[in-house]
Amino acid sequence: MSDTTSTQWTIQRLLEWTTEFFSKSESSSSPRLEAETLLAEALGCQRIELYTRFAEVPDEAKLAEFRAWVKRRGAGEPVAYLVGHREFYSLKFAVDANVLIPRPETEHVVVAALEAAKQLDTNPIRIIDVGTGSGCIAITLAKQLTDGKTDCKIAATDISADALAVAKANAQSHEIEDRVRFFQGDLLDALPSGSEPVHLIVSNPPYIGESEINTVDGQVKEHEPAIALFSGEFGTDIITRLVADAPKYLLLGGFLIFETSPIVMDKCVELVESNSELENVDVVKDFSGHRRVVVARRI
Ligand SMILES: C[S@@+](CC[C@H](N)C(=O)[O-])C[C@H]1O[C@@H](n2cnc3c(N)ncnc32)[C@H](O)[C@@H]1O
Repeated sequence: MSDTTSTQWTIQRLLEWTTEFFSKSESSSSPRLEAETLLAEALGCQRIELYTRFAEVPDEAKLAEFRAWVKRRGAGEPVAYLVGHREFYSLKFAVDANVLIPRPETEHVVVAALEAAKQLDTNPIRIIDVGTGSGCIAITLAKQLTDGKTDCKIAATDISADALAVAKANAQSHEIEDRVRFFQGDLLDALPSGSEPVHLIVSNPPYIGESEINTVDGQVKEHEPAIALFSGEFGTDIITRLVADAPKYLLLGGFLIFETSPIVMDKCVELVESNSELENVDVVKDFSGHRRVVVARRI
């Protein structure tokens, strides 16, 4: 995008050039969308507005920011980290390199938790979110489960203090700090001793095996926190501990709902079924048809 011609860098031309540039780079799966997202963010407008401003030439400061992002994106940095946010369940979450970028698959955890909450029909509903990262699951549930008639109390844990800082900032911007409390530490051990048992435990824990590392997208491996991704040689270390410990923190009839990968789903179902205090209720498929979320119940 250097100025070798006298033609001006209008919004239209910037988008065309950047789309082509991203198309040639391996890191981008949606070149036009990414070009629009970065330019809209640099200009401080909605993506859709770009289309009514095609002939406009952005000022030099905004152009410089956009160019720097395009360069970094071309080198593989995820768009969400560049612009500092990602949408999840139609809510905007701040993200930085200390947290996993929320994924659409994880919305199935929220949907399953809302379904379980409906079945339990209790008020206030108490929930633990293990490995909260950006806080996307806990905060979305807090927003969804508070409607004037029902209320919720959520404890969100993470081993990473830097991730918790992001989650707390998100809780503040979504104005639900009164319903979500954050605890740093290892899985459920992070909770204060003597905590009340809960109706729901939800989690999107790390579940990639170190033995699978060569199959993981380079961009993910290089930029997202390893602690959010990997869990022992086969990906099941953390889930094994979570399934073993969850019954102690769940009320009878309460639900354990967690995301995992189709690769280790059989192992996860086996872990639940071999636990005498849990029954496997359901396995939810994601939009690609992959078995993604385990729903288990405390018996
Ligand atoms: C896959 S990310 C999920 C983040 C967020 N819940 C989401 O769905 O986007 C897993 C999270 O678990 C945290 N984590 C990893 N090991 C942990 C442990 N032993 N105890 C608590 N949290 C842990 C990581 O720091 C990371 O934030």
